[in-house]
Amino acid sequence: MEKLFEDINEYQFIKMMETGKKYMALMSRYRCAIMEVETKLRVLNEEFSSQYDRNPFESIKSRLKSPISILEKLQRRGVKLTEDNMAAAIEQNLNDVAGLRVVCSFQEDIYRLADLLACQDDVKVLRVKDYIKNPKPNGYRSLHLILEVPVFLEEGKTPIKVEVQFRTIAMDFWASLDHKLRYKKNIENEEEIMEKLRQSAETIAALDSEMQSIRNMIERSSI
Ligand code: GTP
Ligand code: MG
Repeated sequence: MEKLFEDINEYQFIKMMETGKKYMALMSRYRCAIMEVETKLRVLNEEFSSQYDRNPFESIKSRLKSPISILEKLQRRGVKLTEDNMAAAIEQNLNDVAGLRVVCSFQEDIYRLADLLACQDDVKVLRVKDYIKNPKPNGYRSLHLILEVPVFLEEGKTPIKVEVQFRTIAMDFWASLDHKLRYKKNIENEEEIMEKLRQSAETIAALDSEMQSIRNMIERSSI
């Protein structure tokens, strides 16, 4: 750290600190948006568990995109980041600075939860990517929603984007193994592994459907 500051003058140092402050304020908004959406989902879970005696989701994880991932994604998209355009560049070009992952036991709960969230009058759906109905060629399955939710700040109501990924437990299990492959370099038998993953994704989808139909049978059978 000492070395870094040795090379800059007082003006540059102050500028740098101000930029850091702006960045922190922007990230704080995204954290608030995560809290808003997480609360909405927890409220739905609470209502479901008291009414129907079951939870529509097993877990929620959230994350804020790291500074380095933000920078890399903007660079990949050819967006130049300057001190003055920082907030606008991030807000306009990235949908996933605030991210939530909702893991459900059953596929039908994914759609029910997503619908109940999307129809709330302060939630705006900007984009839906249904990789369950249309899986990626590698086998990836999840339902992605890009939402905009209002965050009430001192300066007024500000809309903030949040990416919400809905998956079953099995899809989440698959995605975490696939993620491991993505971050490995120079793998010898990559093709073979990819093929095995593709097949596993099919098996998992069949299992999810089977579990769903068994649950439906159980629900119909109760007198
Ligand atoms: P990113 O630049 O990766 O955010 O992709 P995108 O903007 O084209 O959006 P997309 O909806 O395809 O992916 C968003 C996120 O979904 C990723 O950041 C991952 O978290 C997840 N995802 C998408 N595809 C895959 C996949 O093939 N495998 C795994 N493990 N995760 C994936
Ligand atoms: Mg992403």
